[in-house]
Amino acid sequence: MDEVSSDFKRVREATKAIFQPLSIEDSVMQSDPFGSPPNWHLAHVTWFFQKILEKYGVEIELKGTKINLDYLNSYYQKFQSILPKSERGRYPRPTVSETMQYRSCIEEIFLKFLNSFQGRDRLNENVKYDIQLGIQHEMQHQELMIYDLQHYFNRFPDANDNYKPKKIQIRQLRSPTNTPMGAVYVPGGIYDLGFSADGFSYDNELPEHKVYLDPFEIDRHPISNGDFVQFIEDGGYENYRYWLADGWDLLNANEWKSPLYWEKRDDKHWFKKDIRGLKRINLTEPVVNISYFEADAYAKWIGKRLPTEAEWEKAACWSDDLNRKTKFPWGDEIPQEDCANLLESNIWGPSPIGSFPKGKSHYGCYGMIGDIWEWTSSEYVLYPNFKPRFPEYTDKWAIGHKVLRGGSFATSKSQIRNSYRNYFKPCERILFAGFRCARDIS
Ligand SMILES: [Fe+2]
Repeated sequence: MDEVSSDFKRVREATKAIFQPLSIEDSVMQSDPFGSPPNWHLAHVTWFFQKILEKYGVEIELKGTKINLDYLNSYYQKFQSILPKSERGRYPRPTVSETMQYRSCIEEIFLKFLNSFQGRDRLNENVKYDIQLGIQHEMQHQELMIYDLQHYFNRFPDANDNYKPKKIQIRQLRSPTNTPMGAVYVPGGIYDLGFSADGFSYDNELPEHKVYLDPFEIDRHPISNGDFVQFIEDGGYENYRYWLADGWDLLNANEWKSPLYWEKRDDKHWFKKDIRGLKRINLTEPVVNISYFEADAYAKWIGKRLPTEAEWEKAACWSDDLNRKTKFPWGDEIPQEDCANLLESNIWGPSPIGSFPKGKSHYGCYGMIGDIWEWTSSEYVLYPNFKPRFPEYTDKWAIGHKVLRGGSFATSKSQIRNSYRNYFKPCERILFAGFRCARDIS
């Protein structure tokens, strides 16, 4: 239980550290209906812990804090009144100071709740899942908050008017010159898709089940900005032949001509303001902030396709030498800083292709964990014989979403693994997503 308590404390501290550099004004703003104000994220993750406490009959006394919790329900019908997402910035309640008070109050009760299990040999599996879910949920919101911060500060033309993280890695990473390029061959056959390692997994990574894969090739690296510029310059955004119908409509309605946040200056070079500042696009970094439609269009343009989630997972997990899957591309050990670019790396943007050779998979794919989420061609559906562990969390979204794998530079190292299934609507561009391509072997 000590380990869970320290995980709990660590995640709470990490959220506060992301929030701390913000002014009060920036804490309560919502720059677009698809995002949320930072203050809301802080209060909502606390509310989620409160709901877990209530589920197990813990009495909650919010010492003098009379806050209206109705603003904090994101989408759970079972918890009744829901403030629509688009309204979150119009109701900055609880106030920031109330949120902080609320956080410490719930933290104190939650730690007591965790202590009450001290000395027991085995924790009931459901309680254990819910506690870990609360911790993982907060990590997910840390990442969502970073998407929102990128979006919010991007609107200010002043380069210095930006989110300034407490820690930022200024060491310049470079693409190693000897990195192998191209694609790797992955043999076909029966593959066991899903989570089979030790530790926590979401219910949607289970149960592990058999799927059949034809042999295929998958790119060693994600598609870079340099690759994507070629697609733009070849008229990729102007040719309907590459686009799915909904993507083409979206492109026209929103006048998409490039990935989100890109801006062409002097009709010559692409620039972008991200958390690292306002800079010329680094052509060796993976492309990011693109929708599924853009990824799919690029793949068609280059004569390939996106991998399915099972293909992606096999390329990330499977070792022919060990004759088994590993939890991460490099093995079973939790990500270290020399394996992947994740939140704890404090790089705050994708790193150049090939920056983490130690993190490559058994088949030789680079950057599968960290840097950018990767769109796959798979629809987000629940695995056969799926059993919900916390109804409404992962289950009710199994329509109209695409699966992404691998985590981004804003994903915590305690959150990600090869079997992790993220899911977003194909039109979304705020998440830190890119892609790599695959090809049938005919
Ligand atoms: Fe949430």
